[in-house]
Amino acid sequence: MKVTIKDLTKKFASRDKTGEMVTAVDTLSAEFESGKLIALLGPSGCGKSTMLNMLSGILPVTSGKIYFDDVDVTDLSPDKREVGLVFQNYALYPHMTVLENICFPLKIKKVPKAERIEKAVEIAKMVHIEDYLKRLPKELSGGQQQRVAIARALVKKPKLLLLDEPLSNLDAKLRVEMREEIRRIQRESGVTTVFVTHDQEEATSISDYILLMKLGVMQQFSATREIYNNPGNLFVADFIGNPTINQIHGTYTADGIKADGCDELIPCAIKANEGDRVVFAVRPEAVIFENEKNTVNATVNDLYSSGKDWLVNFMIGDTDLRGYCDADFNVSEGSKIKVGFKEKGAFLFNEATGERY
Ligand SMILES: Nc1ncnc2c1ncn2[C@@H]1O[C@H](COP(=O)(O)OP(=O)(O)O)[C@@H](O)[C@H]1O
Ligand SMILES: [Mg+2]
Repeated sequence: MKVTIKDLTKKFASRDKTGEMVTAVDTLSAEFESGKLIALLGPSGCGKSTMLNMLSGILPVTSGKIYFDDVDVTDLSPDKREVGLVFQNYALYPHMTVLENICFPLKIKKVPKAERIEKAVEIAKMVHIEDYLKRLPKELSGGQQQRVAIARALVKKPKLLLLDEPLSNLDAKLRVEMREEIRRIQRESGVTTVFVTHDQEEATSISDYILLMKLGVMQQFSATREIYNNPGNLFVADFIGNPTINQIHGTYTADGIKADGCDELIPCAIKANEGDRVVFAVRPEAVIFENEKNTVNATVNDLYSSGKDWLVNFMIGDTDLRGYCDADFNVSEGSKIKVGFKEKGAFLFNEATGERY
């Protein structure tokens, strides 16, 4: 099922008793293609849960519209929307077995017992929990409990699956394992899924599309690879990517960028206006070490092995930067080197507005 959001806005009376309104989601428009996994990403408090709760119908909208396919569901109650919900705290019923938990939504719908068991077992197999059907939630690991929560959300065959930070309570290793599982389950079930997370790595690893928000405002909505390769503004470039993108502040000239605290000009193929204050942003993998032409002098601060290659911390003028070099690149702390930048992975932004040139 396709989801269309049009100028969606949610305002709350502020919690700090000033009486002012907080705009948690601000005139947000987007279209979620049927069968895709969309990550709703952004820092804590940017409006992700508010968005999700409006999609599920738990929260009424302040203004704007929500369409499921071409049906306006903006004022439809949650039980009529056919959505499945999974939260961070899985909220399984503690006194029910795994099977009873998964069956519960069907019981509410008065599906006959034999049929609901059949459907629950089918979903339990999909999420790989079929060997634990007789156990109570407390007899399961965190990851297994989350599988049950997902099965319970899927058993009604929802048209939309909504997951709000579902992996936050799991430890790091399990989080990685479970995100791959969610990806697999989403692919197998084919259900349109919106996955909320503040973790850009998690979002990037599982989604088809990323919708990145800041203070209720959509910053970019793109295919996952596109948002990394083609960030629309400095906030997006900075939020996506680990290690984070390098940022060189300076003044634009036609001959190169006069970086703060640096006597040389940094070559830059992107055009701006003479004298503009800019941020030249470069992905760590776009740094070239020991390049002959278009190079700038730099000093190595330190190096870390990242397995197959080295992460080099270095300085140009006053700016700390990072890049990757081959393991056999012979440098050490304090080495004077020359570095260049590839065009792919290098972007130019206006310093004041963050807009991309
Ligand atoms: N019920 C509420 N009453 C008042 N303010 C709220 C309420 N729910 C959320 N907010 C505010 O709306 C903003 C977005 O919150 P939320 O959607 O929970 O963000 P996220 O899920 O991205 O962390 C925050 O400033 C939050 O304090
Ligand atoms: Mg939230």
